[in-house]
Amino acid sequence: MSKLLRTSFSLEEPLLEQLELLVKKRGYQNRSEFIRDLIRDQLVESEWASDAEVVGTVTIIYDHHKRELSEKLTGLQHEHHQLVLAATHIHLSHHKCAEMIMLRGKAKDAMALADALRQQKGVLSAGLVMSSTGDQLK
Ligand code: NI
Repeated sequence: MSKLLRTSFSLEEPLLEQLELLVKKRGYQNRSEFIRDLIRDQLVESEWASDAEVVGTVTIIYDHHKRELSEKLTGLQHEHHQLVLAATHIHLSHHKCAEMIMLRGKAKDAMALADALRQQKGVLSAGLVMSSTGDQLK
């Protein structure tokens, strides 16, 4: 583990009060831990704009009865087979399916695949969650 260094910064009083509330609400032991996580989140987000590798999941909800949709969604995953690690299908109800697709690759490619899945007629929702592979995080 790296050496811990102390630093200080200035905040307006109302913002500091809101920070204290957030730290408590999220269950952090102290401000430092909370701020460390905020910085890591920002580092992860900055990777998304670059060519850095990310891991992520696209969760799609779609209409089970929409003709040929299931084949189209599988076809898109085959087109991006270098990006797709695995997929899990869940039959949510008589009419709706959910599919969680795990990805590893460039953020821009993950976003492009999520967009392509979302644009299919009968897809009700497609949410992409990305994280870092951790190489940039200390
Ligand atoms: Ni299903």
